[in-house]
Amino acid sequence: MRINLPVTQKENDGMWNDEIICSKTDTSGIITYANEALCRISGFSETEMLGRPHNVMRHPDMPRVAYAWCWDVLGSGRNWRGIVKNRCRNGDHYWVDANVSPQFGPDGDIRGYFSARRKPTHAQVAEADALYAELRQQEGSLEQRGKLSRSAIIQLYREGPLYRAPAMQEA
Ligand SMILES: Cc1cc2nc3c(=O)[nH]c(=O)nc-3n(C[C@H](O)[C@H](O)[C@H](O)COP(=O)(O)O)c2cc1C
Repeated sequence: MRINLPVTQKENDGMWNDEIICSKTDTSGIITYANEALCRISGFSETEMLGRPHNVMRHPDMPRVAYAWCWDVLGSGRNWRGIVKNRCRNGDHYWVDANVSPQFGPDGDIRGYFSARRKPTHAQVAEADALYAELRQQEGSLEQRGKLSRSAIIQLYREGPLYRAPAMQEA
């Protein structure tokens, strides 16, 4: 897990309302496209993003399980929807309601992924924030006991609170 620091815990939510923040990746999560809104809101230039892994904007407050779940859903060819806290280049953050979908080639094989993000409601952010705090705490306690394995993470998202959260229903 990549830990990007510093973080200010200051929200950058004044810069967008009806815009959609978009990016595309290859099958391993390397950024191949970023729209202007993503550059402006995140503070990363297109050059700083293209060709780099998407975890360049990972916020350390996001629990591991959220991305494990995301990649499992995508790998099985389905769309994933989730509320995500992203880190800006300067350490501030912005919340998104992300819809990530696989892009298929003519033979039905997955060629890459596309993410379209809109601004979440305050209620969605509050719910996700509380949920992620609980998940981080659970992950931390597993890690302390040396039990944060891949299978433990899968169990955490399958049996934990993530599946039950209304803001996290799959698209
Ligand atoms: C199309 C697409 C968009 C993504 N968007 C984000 C994003 O906005 N922020 C983020 O932290 N991870 C995003 N990810 C997930 C990252 O690839 C990565 O799994 C995540 O940041 C966790 O990083 P880690 O492997 O260092 O824990 C995206 C993945 C895909 C396929």
